Amino acid sequence: MVRPLRIAPSILSADFARLGDEVRAVDQAGADWIHIDVMDGHFVPNISFGPVVMASIRPVTRKPFDVHLMIAPVDCYLEAFAKAGADTITVHAEAGPHLDRSLQTVKALGKKAGVALNPGTPIDHIRHVLDRLDLILIMTVNPGFGGQSFIAAMIDKIRETRDLVSGRNIDIEVDGGITAETAPLVVKAGANALVTGSAVFKGDAKAYARNIAAIRTGATSLAA
Ligand code: DX5
Ligand code: ZN
Repeated sequence: MVRPLRIAPSILSADFARLGDEVRAVDQAGADWIHIDVMDGHFVPNISFGPVVMASIRPVTRKPFDVHLMIAPVDCYLEAFAKAGADTITVHAEAGPHLDRSLQTVKALGKKAGVALNPGTPIDHIRHVLDRLDLILIMTVNPGFGGQSFIAAMIDKIRETRDLVSGRNIDIEVDGGITAETAPLVVKAGANALVTGSAVFKGDAKAYARNIAAIRTGATSLAA
């Protein structure tokens, strides 16, 4: 199944002093989704922001909020992020003792459900929960920071994930080191949703549209 290409700028690379303006700017620059990276300083070695900050930018855009929770345990926070305006909630495979239960909770909250796989996490973790999934997030860096280098070994993993989900209504998203140069590789392998932080939030707000367009063009240039 060919799914539409989605470009999801990560606000982790935005200027937090002007967060509302930054979200508005990438919305107008052509973002499909807004990617929200939540980090707890425990599951990943960095701390970003929580549901209160997310709720404060919810009125700024109508674009879907693609919420990536890098927190563990995660279950106790799912409702707060649903109420703060998430459209999709993605949890890491290791973020709690009962992945299937976490996904059921997300669905019961009326949200789309995703699972994120770290570079070292095998896709076997999701084999038996596919029926609950709207999205699979293949990490193409180790989570925690923007601006890291793309891990090329993840290309095979994207391909294997595409084969695993074949025929199902599931987005395959990649996150980390996505640029106009790496975008064609991941799209060719089967990804359709591209998170991109530092490659979008560079230059001033006027540059964001050019940056997103370059990634979109790159993504379609080599795609089969
Ligand atoms: C990493 C985050 C990413 C990150 C991507 O832990 O999940 O969303 O912000 O940033 P870039 O595109 O700069 O690698
Ligand atoms: Zn992310």
